Amino acid sequence: MSELYWAEAAKAIDWIEPYEQVFDAAQGPFGRWFVGGVLNTAANCLDRHVEAGAGERVALIWDSAMEGKVVHYTYRVLRDRVAKLAGAMAARGVVKGDRVVIYMPMVPEAAIAMLACARLGAVHSVVFGGFAAPELAARIDAATPKLVIAASCGLEPGRVVAYKPILDAALDIATHRPDTCLIFQRDAAPAMMVAGRDEDFSAAEAAGMPHEPVPVAATDPLYVLYTSGTTGKPKGIVRDNGGHAVALVNSVPLIFDVRPGEVMWTASDVGWVVGHTYIVYAPLLAGVTSVMYEGKPVGTPDAGAFWRVCAQHRVKTLFTAPTALRAIKQQDPDGALIAAYDLSALEALFLAGERCDPPTAHWIAALLDRPVIDNWWQTETGWPISARFRQTGLTPFKAGSGGRACPGYEVQALDPDGALMPAGEVGALAIRLPLPPGCAPTLWNDDDGYRRAYLEAYPGWYRTGDAGAVDADGDIWVMGRTDDIINVAGHRLSTGAMEEVLAAHPDVAECAVIGRHDAVKGEIPFGLVVLKAGVTRDEAVIAAELVALVRERIGPVAAFRHAVVVQRLPKTRSGKILRATMRQMANGQTPVVPPTIEDASVLESLAGKF
Ligand code: COA
Ligand code: AMP
Repeated sequence: MSELYWAEAAKAIDWIEPYEQVFDAAQGPFGRWFVGGVLNTAANCLDRHVEAGAGERVALIWDSAMEGKVVHYTYRVLRDRVAKLAGAMAARGVVKGDRVVIYMPMVPEAAIAMLACARLGAVHSVVFGGFAAPELAARIDAATPKLVIAASCGLEPGRVVAYKPILDAALDIATHRPDTCLIFQRDAAPAMMVAGRDEDFSAAEAAGMPHEPVPVAATDPLYVLYTSGTTGKPKGIVRDNGGHAVALVNSVPLIFDVRPGEVMWTASDVGWVVGHTYIVYAPLLAGVTSVMYEGKPVGTPDAGAFWRVCAQHRVKTLFTAPTALRAIKQQDPDGALIAAYDLSALEALFLAGERCDPPTAHWIAALLDRPVIDNWWQTETGWPISARFRQTGLTPFKAGSGGRACPGYEVQALDPDGALMPAGEVGALAIRLPLPPGCAPTLWNDDDGYRRAYLEAYPGWYRTGDAGAVDADGDIWVMGRTDDIINVAGHRLSTGAMEEVLAAHPDVAECAVIGRHDAVKGEIPFGLVVLKAGVTRDEAVIAAELVALVRERIGPVAAFRHAVVVQRLPKTRSGKILRATMRQMANGQTPVVPPTIEDASVLESLAGKF
């Protein structure tokens, strides 16, 4: 059944060579889709629409609240720019299979760079701008790129973030050396160039000879995107070309019901998977118009920013993260700014990145009076695991649920032995193998790591790392992670990575980082540290140093603002730190104290610390 479905969906893609097998279970950790097929993803995004006569249709609308600019790019213009940049990259030695790291804010050149890689069959690795130099360095060393493409700066409310010095610092830390860095200069903070390594992006593009799309295998990698694992080492999620194109082109009408010529807006960032999928690839594969927004939900200039963009560009579907709605709700609780704009084109609101808390879901559903569609996914899956489907008719709205499984996914809650939980009961959410097209077939250069992380816990299943339930109607309720990953403003972050940073401070003997509830960001990290014996420095000074250290090593996106010094951390007799118990205390819940606790008085000493 599933193979028939995907064979039908694959007809929406232009293949240079048809695939020989829809799915081959013998390849990779769990199998590969569209084996033998040859295509080019960028040609499917751009050239084929131009060749079909839609060259003058708008592909991308760049709306920068930061620069006060709106620019429209037709499919033809975007195709031509991508072809020229691909030519410039090829002239600098980039060939099929080479990696290119992209470190850019929300400018069209980020999408153009991604598509130029796809045109050449080169593998891009986009790094989110809110990450600091060591995180960028780790991704450069992991991808070993021939080329880095970066912008001179990003624009955040109230400050210009100079990206180029962060890139320079990352290249000082990294052991790998790219041959060339193409730097997109922005007026707000033009970058100093390193002679012999850095070149101007715009000049290179302008001089580039248009490059034809390079045929790649369906199973060749399109991109790698790093995401937080449970350790400090991020995981390189691999996306293939064929399965990705088929899954995405299918999802746009099915889930969003947006058609060629209509406008979808995903208010995320190209540095995250949601941005890869629904700002860049899926809308273009489907021939619709995508809005790329540089700005925030609030403060650029006010809490009406989203509704202004929707009205101005006749947006049919808006996709954002619940945290953005909570930020808007805080400043415009009665929705006065929603009422101030003409939202007659808007048909539905999509939410993902974290569970949407029911009060926020009810608040926005009532004010907008349109369907609110929570959809659950992960960097690994690349498109929603669950949603509600506009094309086939929406299933009932249940605030707090991520909807029903998307085609190709069978989701179940499992008990620790891998047996199915009864309907409605919480267990470890797992997806029966094989995963559908579009989902990561492996980790970058690490098939075994993939098996260990996702496939070994429950044989025959993919372990999502999320806890939740599937109710009697088949609606999925995702309640949180089963590991030490927290979700800060829709961004997935590892508390383990933050603990590694705190532990590196010379005064710290041991530490724990836990997620604490936050009214806007959902969760924020909170650090507890025990100082080494004999340290007499001011605790407040040490705490401030720890906050600065996390910002410097991981980045501002971690939103790590609280560290407290404690005498001891609560542990079990075997020495395991009781993070879950502390998390319950920090969130005002009654802590569950395991009988194996070493010394219960440690918990009492933490009262008032959170
Ligand atoms: N480049 C550089 N720095 C960045 C950045 C980027 N691309 N994105 C964020 N930052 C910085 C911010 O400037 C901020 O720095 P500060 O500590 O100096 O203020 C820090 O990282 C945290 O940023 P952010 O998470 O944006 O928090 P905020 O308090 O500025 O704004 C929200 C709160 C809710 C408005 C914001 O988090 C938001 O819009 N979230 C939506 C998230 C989203 O779309 N997620 C995608 C998942 S689908
Ligand atoms: P990321 O890989 O950064 O996209 O983060 C994926 C994680 O975010 C998932 O494993 C979930 O924990 C969480 N998540 C994403 N979307 C949802 C949703 N709609 N409901 C609940 N949790 C979500």
